[in-house]
Order: sequence, then C-alpha cells, then structure tokens
Amino acid sequence: MNPRRSFLQKLGLSIALPSILGMKIKSKPPNFDFSLPDPEFWFQVRETFPLTKNRVYFNNGTFGPAPFPVLEKVEAINQLVSTTGEYGNTDQERIAIAEFLNCQTEELSLTHNTTEGINIMAWGLPLKAGDEVILTTHDHAGNALPWLNRAKLDGIILKAFSPANTQEENLDLVKSLCGPRTKVIAIPHITCTTGLVFPIREISDYARSKGIYTAIDGAHGAGTFNLNLHELGCDFYAGCFHKWLLGPSGTGFLYVKKEKLNELQALQIGGYSDLGWDMLSSPPILKGYVDTAHRFDYGTQSKSLYAGVKAAADFHTAIGKQKVEDRLRTLNQRLYEQMKDLGTSFEILSPEEPQSRLPMITFRSPSIPAEELNRKISKNGFRVRQIHEAGLNAIRVSTHIYNSEEEIDQFVQLLQKL
Ligand SMILES: Cc1ncc(COP(=O)(O)O)c(C=O)c1O
Repeated sequence: MNPRRSFLQKLGLSIALPSILGMKIKSKPPNFDFSLPDPEFWFQVRETFPLTKNRVYFNNGTFGPAPFPVLEKVEAINQLVSTTGEYGNTDQERIAIAEFLNCQTEELSLTHNTTEGINIMAWGLPLKAGDEVILTTHDHAGNALPWLNRAKLDGIILKAFSPANTQEENLDLVKSLCGPRTKVIAIPHITCTTGLVFPIREISDYARSKGIYTAIDGAHGAGTFNLNLHELGCDFYAGCFHKWLLGPSGTGFLYVKKEKLNELQALQIGGYSDLGWDMLSSPPILKGYVDTAHRFDYGTQSKSLYAGVKAAADFHTAIGKQKVEDRLRTLNQRLYEQMKDLGTSFEILSPEEPQSRLPMITFRSPSIPAEELNRKISKNGFRVRQIHEAGLNAIRVSTHIYNSEEEIDQFVQLLQKL
C-alpha cells in the first residue's frame, strides 16, 4: 500500500474527497498519536496538509492553507447542500466556534473576514467629531482604513503611536496617549508588521477604568494563542479563520461583549438581525434588533464554509490549543535565536521579549533592499512576505504547526549564504 495513504488512514483521514450521494460526512478530527516523540508528532500533523513540499511556506500571516479534514468537510457539506437543496444555517457552527473562542454564542457574529468586523466596530461605536481613537503606525490596511474613513467622514481624531518593544512599555505608551477625549483603543492584538503582541488584557483593564472602548484587531489571534476572549477582557474583537486557524477563506468573526451589545449600533442589517418588522403597518416598522451579536450578520450564510471553520477548530482542539501555542512559540524562538546569531548581517525588527512576539519574525538587511531579498529568498524555495507597512521595507517570516525545525534551519542557512 502507498505509505502516505496508509499514514493518512491511520490518522483517520481519507485521501479522496467524499463522493456525492450516500456519503458519510467526516466530522471526526484526526486521530493523532500523542505517544510519538516531538519530531514525529509534528510530522504526522504535517502529513494532514496537502500543502506542497516543493517549497517552504512561511506566509501563514497572510493566509493559512487548510488541512485535509477542513477541505473534506467543506466539500462534503457543499455537496450535501447541492444534493438536497437544503442550504441550512450556521447555528451549530456558531455554538462550536464560540466555545472554541471562549465566549458566549450570543456574543459572536459570523463575518466574512477581519476587516468586516473592524468596519462594524469603526462605524457602530457612538463617536462624534473631535473624539479620539488610538491606533498604531503599524496597522494593516484592514484596521487603518475603516478608522481613517470614519475620521474622514465624521471628523473623529486618530492618534497613532509607534509600538515599543515590551509589554510594559506598550501599556505605558497607550496609557500616556489616553486623555479626556479618548473614546476607543483600536489596536491589533498582534501586529502584521513584526508579530508584536500587545498586552490586551492589561490595556482592556485600564481602558475599562477610564470608560474607553477596546476594539481589537484580532486578525492573528484565533489559532495562535490559546485564545480566551472572556479572559482577554476587551469589549470588541474582530478576527478571521483563514489565517492561523487554518479554516476556509471568506470566514471571520466579531466578538461583542454582552454588556456592550447595545452600545454598538448595527448599521447594516437584514434577515436574522431583527425582532420583527411589518411593511403593512403605516408607517412600516422595524420592531428592534435580536438580543445577540447575530444582529450584525444577516442573510444567507455559507453552511459549508462555517462547517469548515468548525472542522478547523476541531483540528486545533484535537492537537490541543495550548500545544499549538507552545509549538508556535518554540518555532518562533528557534528562528529568533538563530537570526540573532547571524549578528549584524540582518536587523531583527520583532521584539526580543518572548511574550511580546508571536508567531512571525520580521527583519531587514542593511545592504539588500527588501524587494531584492524577497526575490532571492523566493528563488531558493521559501515563501515569505515583504513588509511595506510603516515604511519598514522588511521581510516577514511566519511559522505554523506544519513547519519544522529543519525548515527554519535551512532558511537561516540560506540567509547566511545571502
Ligand atoms: C493585523 C491585520 N489586521 C487586519 C487584516 C485584514 O484581515 P482580513 O483579510 O481577514 O480582513 C490583516 C491581514 O493580513 C492583518 O494582518
């Protein structure tokens, strides 16, 4: 038997996607063997990804390739929906995803990506001209643009700070920017530029004591940390499932703390947002919004994509959320230390403090422009991302559970050669 086939079967996975009728939809996550030593354990995880071995993929910060169980689930539900014509709903998935993120189902809106959730926050919060919002100079377009747009149209004031290198310094920085006109802290949990982790819990505690909203860009939060939204303590958190959770693209979420639900105005609504409506009364009336964050998402949703998200959450749970976080920290630390050993050939822009850094490392060369460096790295079989944000002109390396120590070592050897 083909060794790869038997390996996948041992994990409880099939190779072919399920065929149309009479199929048994696989919802079981893989059966990982936890008795294996570390390298073999992570090798079996790697084998659950169709991701090409022709090059090393170090760009999960942009997009996370899904493992087989996610792909199979999406395909199976797609086929089922097309076979029966019953398009279903995402109620069950919403429950499972809320559990995975540690929030109540009622606090979860299912969006299409992080940016959508950020737009809901940026436009729904009660702000007027002159109110201040704190952001960072390292924001991704997905966080910067919605707030810039509100500033342009409604006259709110954005105060952007350049992040420091430790959690303590960043907490102090945020505190120092808060004043009587500050209404929102709208920073990322992890920056897209250098993988810098902000102390969201401490920032949220401080913001709460000052009556300031925390509206967090959590694009990199789900599937990296052992994320617990209730423990994090922020008011709002927008994220996606197509990066670190390794779910299908076109899926995201917005967490809205229960007590803040009625402070975030729903501006776009539709079927499932309402408590009833009547076009026959004069004048026609909207009776109100549902008492959950479901008011922010509406209309037909993709059953198959959200079934894929649930499968991705099950996949992480099968490995263990903390084990995933620990693995990301191990790989990140290994890359950081080896890059440090290269001395002055490269300038590491990611913070040294371990709790301020996950799951990406960003660096630049004093002698090779980022574009050229990126070209050389790519030619040698590694997919990384160039960082233009904040004028950094640097290279970002993202490592996830399908990456290995060897891949990191080979990458550093390449840098040495360059
Ligand atoms: C920090 C950050 N925020 C927002 C986004 C936008 O995410 P999405 O594509 O899910 O809207 C990204 C995407 O890379 C990001 O890195």
